[in-house]
Amino acid sequence: MKNDRTLSQLRVLGIMSGTSLDGVDCALCRVGPGVQLLHLWSVSFRKPLHRRLQLAARGEANSWELAQLHHDLGRFYATAAQHDPTGHRAQLIGLHGQTVFHHPHRTRPATLQLGEPAYLAESLRVPVVSNFRVADLAAGGQGAPLATLFHQIHFAQRGEHVCVHNLGGISNVTSLDWRRGAQPRVLAFDTGPANVLLDLAMRHFTDGRETCDQWGAFAFQGKVCEPLLKKWLRHPFLRQAPPKSSGRELFGEKFLQPALAEMQRLRLAPQDFVATLTEFTARSLALNYRLHLPAPPDRVVLAGGGTANPALCNAIQREMKVLNQHVTVTRSDEHGWPAKSIEPAAFALLAWRRWFDLPGNLPATTGARRAVLCGQITAA
Ligand SMILES: Nc1ncnc2c1ncn2[C@@H]1O[C@H](COP(=O)(O)OP(=O)(O)O)[C@@H](O)[C@H]1O
Ligand SMILES: [Mg+2]
Repeated sequence: MKNDRTLSQLRVLGIMSGTSLDGVDCALCRVGPGVQLLHLWSVSFRKPLHRRLQLAARGEANSWELAQLHHDLGRFYATAAQHDPTGHRAQLIGLHGQTVFHHPHRTRPATLQLGEPAYLAESLRVPVVSNFRVADLAAGGQGAPLATLFHQIHFAQRGEHVCVHNLGGISNVTSLDWRRGAQPRVLAFDTGPANVLLDLAMRHFTDGRETCDQWGAFAFQGKVCEPLLKKWLRHPFLRQAPPKSSGRELFGEKFLQPALAEMQRLRLAPQDFVATLTEFTARSLALNYRLHLPAPPDRVVLAGGGTANPALCNAIQREMKVLNQHVTVTRSDEHGWPAKSIEPAAFALLAWRRWFDLPGNLPATTGARRAVLCGQITAA
């Protein structure tokens, strides 16, 4: 049933916390039909909450703890949203929530994002759209990626093949090939890990003092171990054809533990191990481009927290040049979109579309049977 809302501009707050488990990014946007960023802020997860989320994402939280976490996170998001210093009140909220389980490939697919939206609706007294992924999953899709429409609206360029590449915990690409035709040809999928293994390794080597390889300092000091890298590059996910999406299930602790054992066997220094992981992200990304994109890109726009890691960005740039020596690699900041703004802004757009009964998924990229309304509304 259609609602009777007339399409109009709204101030929408997009709230995103991704697989890195670093915290939440909030983007207050003016939406309708494009998106304009008004303000961006982030709130980190404190250690105990990070730890609980990590256990939940590993399948080590029991049902009572999951329920408690769902509500604790809901309250956390509500507090984070109130940090808005602009005084421009949001009229609608798009809450992604925290993924603790994402298995779209099973015979019985499932995904779960935690974070009870009722707390946001109650404290800000505005409607909240959340649980974006399930409608796509129910329609036979992967439930991901969902930022694709945003990438298309803001980055597609007629006459060019542009790739928007997000370096979050997981690495994902949106290929917008508009070299010909009235519309860009869109492909979007995960290419493997971006930061998740780097973060886990850094926490491991520093007993939790360092949460990431700050500015790539460790990687810059290390030497890539080619045999180990070659072995990792044989991971079946990299060759699997899209649509495909991944998470900590594939590239989390389960990947890291045997990798650390190999590291000991090969007597690698932690710096070498981190350098090899950094190279793995860059090379797995390039391998995916080679195998699964219609052509090498003319332009690559990097986004997400990984853009703050120059060791990673340099390696990606080098790999992209191998694919196309004329490629231009930029960061989303250079296009007016700070690295951490794109994902929350994309969920602001999706919330706006859900509010006005417009579909949010691109079936060609998620594998869904049809375009569906993404998100469920919690009234205020
Ligand atoms: N200064 C930095 N140096 C290196 N890596 C960084 C830096 N700042 C952020 N990162 C990386 O970015 C990640 C967060 O990126 P983000 O886009 O929020 O990912 P996600 O969506 O998975 O949460 C951090 O976990 C970290 O690995
Ligand atoms: Mg994050």
